[in-house]
Amino acid sequence: MDIGENGAEFVVVANRLPVDLERLPDGTERWKHSPGGLVSALEPFLRSHSGAWVGWPGVSDAVVSPFEDDGLLLHPVELSAKEVEDYYEGFSNGTLWPLYHDVVAQPAFHRHWWNSYVRVNQRFADATAKVAAQGATVWVQDYQLQLVPAMLREQRPDLKIGFFLHIPFPPVELFMQLPWRTEIIRGLLGADLVGFHRPGGAQNFLWLARRLVGLEPSRGTVGVRTRPGVVQVGDRTVRVGAFPISIDSAGLDAVARRKETQARAKQIRADLGNPKRILLGVDRLDYTKGIDVRIRALYELIADGRVDPEDVTMVQLATPSRERVDHYKTMRQDIEQSVGRINGEFGRVGKPVVHYLHQSVNREELVAFMSAADVMVVTPVRDGMNLVCKEYVACRYDLGGALVLSEFAGAAAELTSAFLVNPHDLDGVKNALQAALDIDPAEGRRRMRALRRQVLTHDVDRWARSFLEALGTQTSV
Ligand code: ADP
Ligand code: G6P
Repeated sequence: MDIGENGAEFVVVANRLPVDLERLPDGTERWKHSPGGLVSALEPFLRSHSGAWVGWPGVSDAVVSPFEDDGLLLHPVELSAKEVEDYYEGFSNGTLWPLYHDVVAQPAFHRHWWNSYVRVNQRFADATAKVAAQGATVWVQDYQLQLVPAMLREQRPDLKIGFFLHIPFPPVELFMQLPWRTEIIRGLLGADLVGFHRPGGAQNFLWLARRLVGLEPSRGTVGVRTRPGVVQVGDRTVRVGAFPISIDSAGLDAVARRKETQARAKQIRADLGNPKRILLGVDRLDYTKGIDVRIRALYELIADGRVDPEDVTMVQLATPSRERVDHYKTMRQDIEQSVGRINGEFGRVGKPVVHYLHQSVNREELVAFMSAADVMVVTPVRDGMNLVCKEYVACRYDLGGALVLSEFAGAAAELTSAFLVNPHDLDGVKNALQAALDIDPAEGRRRMRALRRQVLTHDVDRWARSFLEALGTQTSV
């Protein structure tokens, strides 16, 4: 893939650019890595293939000209403060995010949020139409931009357009609550290929294309990476498939094997007082992640006398996220209160039970934490895929460590050798945590070997190639 004279041959369009503009209190600005799994997954692929990326620089009213970053052409799309409020915090994260995550929080439906969503999607489509070369491939990402495929096709029928949803696509009964459900389905049908993590999402989408748009989709079962569904839209054939996303497995494995990483992991263990066992959670601070579930489970295990706080320490790294959205404010308070409670009751001076950092750490530090952790705890109540669990597996070249994973993460379908739990069943989570803490080393190695076989052979490159091949795009250049 190449950046042609008259535009880019390959364009990614996502709400966020891979880098985020940060305004410091002294008025200066700097770029930092953007949060979230979408960027973690796509960035390594894009950096090794070159192309253009259209996205928002992460702060309101930032007028930034296009610039090149390490071979990647970044095209910033400006959002006003009001648009951030209505399109991003409002419709994207106050309506779609909870609705698509099984309504674990109540979605709000506001017409002015929707109007802003339409306007901003049009702006992304217009910007992309200007950047893409004749006949280029454009890959639109995620729930914030579901109208872009149709808007872009309207202006640029020459383009090959793919769309991938990084979050779950909900059961049809929930999707049908959305007042603008038909507009969203029509928006997505502007793509040549619509991709989901799981076949169930693809199947739901096909059902809705029939019910809401009156089309006649194929009826066969959609496979993983194979057997996409098809639906004829006028003279176009739209394919609908399942493509489970992944990580740069070999890259993380290599970082984990470095001497410096292992030394840092040892240092982290020492800083924590060399406990017998370290539990680790790594998440964006989001109510879908079930951070409260794992803290409650640990609290009860200690209260029941099944876990000794002298032996076991938990580290929870939580990236700040969507801090002005109400559900996020409430959840942060709840989690900070439960951390206070467990430490207040069971900690002692210099030895808290839970080390909670409301911070983001860099990749090397993250790998060191994962290398130091005996048990990685991933307990979302709903997650499209969840990359953290795959990252943990990629870091454990030593076959050490154990993974506790929610059945409600897309990754559970692939990581069947983890301790799979239902996060709504607290006793089940407690039992799984205890089993993981007490695992026999030979059994642990057996499980980790099986997990690594999956994660190392199904990396992000394979995900991107399978999607782009289904779209009919050459990926070898
Ligand atoms: P989501 O996309 O919903 O945030 P994922 O698990 O798919 O969830 O991806 C999260 C990404 O963000 C992973 O690459 C993970 O390593 C990274 N991440 C999450 N929390 C932190 C943190 N505190 N510091 C550094 N990276 C983090
Ligand atoms: C998830 C979403 C992404 C989003 C990321 C971070 O991974 O699928 O689209 O970018 O979370 O959330 P934020 O709201 O900070 O972009």
